[in-house]
Amino acid sequence: MSILEIVKYGDPILRKKTLEVTEITDEIKKLAKNMLETMYSAPGVGLAAPQVGSSLKICVIDVVPNGRKRPFILINPQILSGENKIELEEGCLSFPGIFEPVKRYDKITAEYIDLDGNINKVEVTGFLAKAFQHEIDHLNGKVFIDYLAAWKRKNIEKDIKRRKKGGDW
Ligand code: NI
Repeated sequence: MSILEIVKYGDPILRKKTLEVTEITDEIKKLAKNMLETMYSAPGVGLAAPQVGSSLKICVIDVVPNGRKRPFILINPQILSGENKIELEEGCLSFPGIFEPVKRYDKITAEYIDLDGNINKVEVTGFLAKAFQHEIDHLNGKVFIDYLAAWKRKNIEKDIKRRKKGGDW
């Protein structure tokens, strides 16, 4: 296994729509496992394929704290329904050091294919539901600052530009 490089906001791949995975090949399995490894080492609670330079519908999530692992590997995931929006602070491995409150569903039903090729339908709540929505957004070229007020987004983009000049991005 290997740790992959995580791209930061500004890289055009984060805005590209991803392609469906049509077959669970050894290469897909390897990518998914490397993504998990990369996420744990970052450390983070979720990572989507575009963040490691791959335009495929794959993301990984593990929100269980303290090293107890409960990983999700989601292939071609979709949110089927959601209820009860709540606002919680959120960050992203492609936005180091930036945290903002985002309103998302507190409970969702989602469908995805796992590494064995099985279709799974799950109902998840709380922080895990938030992570599902954040990572699935990445697969549609969407990032969490898209939910913020325009002025807030502009400030963040200005800050990123400044950090880029200073070599801190
Ligand atoms: Ni993210």
